[in-house]
Amino acid sequence: MSGGSAHLRVELGNRSYDIVAGSGLLADAGDLMQRVLRQKRVVVVTDAHVAKLHLKTLASGLAKAGIASEILILPPGEGTKDFAHFEKLCEDILALGIERSTALVALGGGVIGDLAGFAAASLLRGLDYVQVPTTLLAQVDSSVGGKTAIDVKAGKNLVGAFYQPVLVIADIDTLATLPPRELLAGYAEVVKYGLIRDRAFFDWLEQNGAALVKGDAELRRQAVLKSCRDKAEIVAADEREAGERALLNFGHTFGHALEAEAGFGQALLHGEAVALGMLMAFDLSARLGLCPKESARRVRQHFEQVGLKTELGRIDADSLLARMRKDKKVKDGRISLILAHDIGQAFISREVTDAALREFLSQQTKTLASATRAH
Ligand SMILES: NC(=O)c1ccc[n+]([C@@H]2O[C@H](COP(=O)([O-])OP(=O)(O)OC[C@H]3O[C@@H](n4cnc5c(N)ncnc54)[C@H](O)[C@@H]3O)[C@@H](O)[C@H]2O)c1
Repeated sequence: MSGGSAHLRVELGNRSYDIVAGSGLLADAGDLMQRVLRQKRVVVVTDAHVAKLHLKTLASGLAKAGIASEILILPPGEGTKDFAHFEKLCEDILALGIERSTALVALGGGVIGDLAGFAAASLLRGLDYVQVPTTLLAQVDSSVGGKTAIDVKAGKNLVGAFYQPVLVIADIDTLATLPPRELLAGYAEVVKYGLIRDRAFFDWLEQNGAALVKGDAELRRQAVLKSCRDKAEIVAADEREAGERALLNFGHTFGHALEAEAGFGQALLHGEAVALGMLMAFDLSARLGLCPKESARRVRQHFEQVGLKTELGRIDADSLLARMRKDKKVKDGRISLILAHDIGQAFISREVTDAALREFLSQQTKTLASATRAH
């Protein structure tokens, strides 16, 4: 695997689509999109950071293929994924006089992808859209699989739709401008594939993760491709999360609750919360005797090695548990958790009682309190 770009396919019958991953793709975006566009006109939705860095390359790539583009630039950050911005975005897109055959192009991270994707699902009862992910998190996870959503008062991603894009273009060159902290947060979602289903990939990450995070473009390309291949496979087998796809939520039930506690902002990024959540899932699995303690230790060691957050910060067990109970994945009142029998062997558990969970969370708080006293 070296150089050039690779095409993968998400097999979903008449909603199948390609993922193109590689270098220099923004400049060729028009050529790549031509095959799937029903009109030589698109509306590009992006955020202000990405617009400054990558919009020009994309717009000229589109123009080169004779595709007209109109641009809508939103403020960066999770706060943009709310009703107010969703409403404004929809009104702004409609004000451009779009037709059903006009496609949206989501250029940005998971925030833009989720928001523009949900706008595409909703406008005129469904517009085509192309994902052009520019963060590692979006390239390896959020741009593939058609989950679109916004955040509401009751919680994150609670209003949304399953709505597949018609194409995903992951240009790994865009990662060169990503702040290191954002890259690292996205790296957590890369490790996730190793942790849930592929021990050999985790071994590979132990060898190569640090260099990947530091900037090795070829390693990044390989990790993006591998992650997209895994995601495409899982989504093709279980589009609406009736089974295996739920494993992709590894670390997310804890993570979303931590994110909510931290206020969905710069204090704790989504990927950082997921990384902590995955550590908690391993610690809980080890504590319940489901997974070797050594494996939980190995995961923590890898996160420390690449520089991911491994300390929880101040948490209140009851408040975290209350937040976890609001998760979309609660079924018949039971919190559904993804736990692990070992690295590469995640499974869905509805067996953990509230009492056991509360005890585990209190223990985590106590460990933190004693660690803080010791310093
Ligand atoms: N739909 C899904 O399946 C799915 C899966 C995982 C996460 N998500 C969602 O994704 C969101 C998080 O996505 P994210 O981490 O990409 O965050 P993000 O979209 O907020 O991007 C992070 C930051 O990086 C900036 N940025 C983006 N690309 C850049 C680049 N190439 N160079 C410099 N700066 C750049 C953005 O402006 C932003 O400030 C969350 O809302 C989460 O819920 C969705």
